[in-house]
Amino acid sequence: MKIINSIQDYRNQYGASIMDPEAFWSDVAEDFVWRRKWDKVLEWDFRKPEVKWFVGGKLNITENCIDRHLPARANQTAILWESNNPNEASIKITYQSLSENVGRVGNMLKAHGVKKGDRVCIYMPMVPEVAYAILGCARIGAVHSVVFAGFSSGSLVDRINDSGCKLVLTADGAFRGDKKIDLKAIVDEALLKCPTVKTCIVFQRTKSSLTLKPSRDFWWHDELGKVDAVCPAEVMDAEDMLFILYTSGSTGKPKGMVHTCGGYMVYTDYTFKTVFQYNEGQVFWCTADVGWITGHSYILYGPLSAGATTLMFEGIPSWPDMGRFWHAIEKHKVNIFYTAPTAIRSLEKAPISFVEKYDLSSLKILGTVGEPINEEAWHWYDHNIGKNKCPIVDTWWQTETGGMMISPIAHVTKLKPAHATLPLPGVQPAVMDENGKEMEGNGIEGRLTLKFPWPAMARTIYGDHQRFKDTYFSTFPGKYFTGDGCKRDEDGNYRITGRVDDIIIVSGHNMGTAEIESAIDEHSAVCESAVVGFPHDIKGQGVYAFVVTYDPVHEESHLRNEIREVVSKIIGPIAKPDKIQFVSGLPKTRSGKIMRRILRKVAEGDTSNLGDTTTLLDPSVVEEIKRGALG
Ligand code: PRX
Repeated sequence: MKIINSIQDYRNQYGASIMDPEAFWSDVAEDFVWRRKWDKVLEWDFRKPEVKWFVGGKLNITENCIDRHLPARANQTAILWESNNPNEASIKITYQSLSENVGRVGNMLKAHGVKKGDRVCIYMPMVPEVAYAILGCARIGAVHSVVFAGFSSGSLVDRINDSGCKLVLTADGAFRGDKKIDLKAIVDEALLKCPTVKTCIVFQRTKSSLTLKPSRDFWWHDELGKVDAVCPAEVMDAEDMLFILYTSGSTGKPKGMVHTCGGYMVYTDYTFKTVFQYNEGQVFWCTADVGWITGHSYILYGPLSAGATTLMFEGIPSWPDMGRFWHAIEKHKVNIFYTAPTAIRSLEKAPISFVEKYDLSSLKILGTVGEPINEEAWHWYDHNIGKNKCPIVDTWWQTETGGMMISPIAHVTKLKPAHATLPLPGVQPAVMDENGKEMEGNGIEGRLTLKFPWPAMARTIYGDHQRFKDTYFSTFPGKYFTGDGCKRDEDGNYRITGRVDDIIIVSGHNMGTAEIESAIDEHSAVCESAVVGFPHDIKGQGVYAFVVTYDPVHEESHLRNEIREVVSKIIGPIAKPDKIQFVSGLPKTRSGKIMRRILRKVAEGDTSNLGDTTTLLDPSVVEEIKRGALG
């Protein structure tokens, strides 16, 4: 792999990657262990859409993340685990021990009848075993579908059934701050509605008392004790499925994004090393949960493939106090720290003494991901955490892209606060105007598309290729549409301005407004609802719900709480509306379409100019909505 050390290197390599993408990526891919080399680097057609990388190549990603580092790195820490409880000892998992643990999980799955291509659902806390679970699936060619352990049983049911999982790996419970969440109880409720699941294996974390369902449930420690640590790696085709990860859609149910083995491996490793300029021996910490794509790509696959030491944190930034992140950075001498703007904004509100108590001098590079970072938070992060000497890489990407796409390269790219700056090598953005024409030149604003494939892109939506095509390749035929708006400044730097569809990003989590609305509508008092985002100090965007009830509401706060509970039960606590305004009707066009533009303005507190409302069926509802707006 060619290292990028200067902006000139970047320009040269970027140019080369555009001129001849196949030569560029084949050169990068040379650095991996392949059981068989590819016959062709790329086959693609965005009209179908179909994309294949490293066609004919054979590999197993775990051989690249583990075996190839042995014996040289046998005693190097692969995963550094920090407990939720600061008084519990941290754990260092070496590459050798990772190999054995992953082998055991692979064998345990096989012993329960899991074969190549079978789907396994992973619903676990942030413990080392979740890494063994993920890599154990990859070892034997099973497809993992990790579901964030904050989702409710209803969300779990949808995801398990959509992909027809055969087995669930879970835990008795999870610790999150001072709370204990009974994961197994949630799984039990879900499995009543999941006919494909025959087996559930339970890791013991919280030691909560529970009963196992005979012939379906097993203790992780019992099962693991029965198997060997050596598990041969299944030979996978580069285009075989590696995992499914669900992300919210702007309509309907969540989309199971499918990622494949070869391209994903090459791209996550390449972007990890390039963007963070990772050096041998450094400690890298990505604070995401493994239930999201950031955790897949940059807690596990990217760093482990690069032979790095990756920190995995079980807890939350605010417990036992607001200094928890900074404490862990000092304790583990973290060199590269990658987090979400929402976390920065919440920690920034705490007294600065929580930061000043700790020695953060090990830090060399900072990163952000998940949503636009506002300039003020950027400067706070730069000044107080980076002490004005650590570059901040504001990395733009998506569950669908698999890896970072537009981002500064640390120490190379000139930074501009709140800008994701330049496309990484191999990434070809195109900004489109509202007529579907590509905008040329700089100093422009439009919709962000990608006009050429990159190795880690999702290949399809599990079980629904038509939806994949409709969602991403139909708005601008021949191009992948990201759903984001962006600006390109005079120097060619990109600034992502946010979603232009009905997806809102709350605390960095992608949520479909339609999904929240359908959960709200489950409340028996609710007739219909409309959800929009509004600017929120800490979460970036909050959830604002306009709710129409069948009967007049007498006890507003009581009903609000009940609605929040329903949403929490159906989707999970992260989707709970921050504001609920009861209205007698929604602003609809004559064809029955809700005019969200108006609701967004009201939610933003800007009612001075709501634009044209003459096409509304009943313009008078707008006055009522304005009067009742929640500040
Ligand atoms: O709107 C963009 C925003 O997050 C969306 C993707 O969300 P998700 O699939 O959950 O993946 C998040 C982690 C990769 C994007 O469409 N987004 C992500 N990173 C940034 C961002 N918006 C602005 N700046 C970013 N750095």
